[in-house]
Amino acid sequence: MDNTIFDFVGGTTGDWKVIKMTTLKGDSLKKVTHIDKLASSLLQTFQGTWSLKGVISNLRYTEKSEKEKLLAIQEDLGREKATYAALIPIRKNDAWWNLAQDERRKIMENQSQHTHVGMQYLPAIARKLFHSRDINEPFDFLTWFEFAPEDEPAFNELLKHLRNSEEWKYVDREIDIRLKRV
Ligand code: HEM
Repeated sequence: MDNTIFDFVGGTTGDWKVIKMTTLKGDSLKKVTHIDKLASSLLQTFQGTWSLKGVISNLRYTEKSEKEKLLAIQEDLGREKATYAALIPIRKNDAWWNLAQDERRKIMENQSQHTHVGMQYLPAIARKLFHSRDINEPFDFLTWFEFAPEDEPAFNELLKHLRNSEEWKYVDREIDIRLKRV
């Protein structure tokens, strides 16, 4: 068992009940009623309708001062009050991946203020980014968020900001899956 690799299995059972699945861009995923977030094991075979794999990796774009601020305010997953979650798988297009690292950072931060604005929603929103691009998965990222029901409007407001940003012009597949802990 390796706790940096996770499988998100969509099916009819799991710890998270699907409230809503919305395809914003690109192909959708088959509708499921539940999602399980499992520490990956190569010995396991999954019974679900679909399964998405992601790896916890190093930071790519975050600068030292941002990292320190994030560490000081962010909260962990698994808080008792955080009974709502969102799994948002995302893929970016070739134009994004053909840019150099510094160009991507400029788009994310100078033009889109991803971290700067996102930080205003901490600690209410707990988050984890899983990378999938380098392991031949259909999405580049699996993004996971946990929050209390009363913080859902704030979460939606943050998504509105990001989806209107320069960075999101490079997103070509995005599915927003809202969940409630069973
Ligand atoms: C809750 C507040 C949020 C904060 C503080 C935040 C912060 C960050 C930071 C610092 C990174 C860069 C990681 C690195 O250096 O590699 C990042 C990446 C990312 N975030 Fe957020 N984020 C937030 C919310 C969101 C939301 C709501 C979404 C939408 C689904 C999202 C999607 C992503 C994606 C897809 C990446 C990877 C981008 C790439 O590498 O091209 N984030 N986030």
